[in-house]
Amino acid sequence: MNKALLVSDAAHFRVDYEINPYMHTAVQPDHAAALLEHERIVAVHRAVGRHIEYVPSAPECPDMVFTANAALVRGGRAVLGAPPPERKAELPYFQEWLIDNDYEVLEAPYPFSGQGDALACGDLLLAGYGQRTDRRMHAVLAQELGYEVVPLRTVSPQWYDLDLAVGVVEPGRVLAYCPDALDQPSRHRLRGIGMDLIEVCVEEAACFALNLISDGTTVTMTSGAPRLAAALRERDLRVVELDTTELAKGGGGVRCTALTLDNPLPARS
Ligand code: ARG
Repeated sequence: MNKALLVSDAAHFRVDYEINPYMHTAVQPDHAAALLEHERIVAVHRAVGRHIEYVPSAPECPDMVFTANAALVRGGRAVLGAPPPERKAELPYFQEWLIDNDYEVLEAPYPFSGQGDALACGDLLLAGYGQRTDRRMHAVLAQELGYEVVPLRTVSPQWYDLDLAVGVVEPGRVLAYCPDALDQPSRHRLRGIGMDLIEVCVEEAACFALNLISDGTTVTMTSGAPRLAAALRERDLRVVELDTTELAKGGGGVRCTALTLDNPLPARS
């Protein structure tokens, strides 16, 4: 898992609109610093043995660096995201890349934040709703990609995507999550899931601590969350902490910048 990732670049990354509470058009990313920050993230993916695919960003798409929202991919199928109007122009670029790379591409019939609101965890899909994803998408994802959906509702726009509130560390074994970001039934569902749960405080989660990428051996995450990093190291994971200062101005972190291409297919009986 997370050994094959689709990334873009930060060449056109700007804050042209405010569609999450972290974005302020008055606070623009430093262009050179943002490019470097993104290049470092990708360099670490490569250094730890992850395969990288690349879609160049387009000038009219200031959020295209956040490829996670483009789709959810499993096996040879991809369900495209259906983002807010400000980000619709990104979709044809990702759609074209997916088709050119032989994926069967399905359009989402309802609002859907792609992998931002859909965390694969083996055959389970931790699926967000209530912010950018319409709950009716859950049945579509179950039907089209064969997942068993665990619905999780975040409580406010601060957690506009589930990947700010929950992180899959080892599918079936270890999850990290911020209890305060989820409503009570969702917390209950997670606590009944039978996995080791690492609790993350609001302070670290709001620094994009949970927006991490784990391949089960190495976790790449922001450098702003020392407590979570320590909890992961205690579990014998190798942790690489990366600066995400510029990406944070767009409301994103490490995981937002990569779309997972190798979510495993169901084990055959
Ligand atoms: N500015 C982007 C947006 O609000 C950030 C997306 C970050 N992606 C994520 N998976 N959380 O859409």
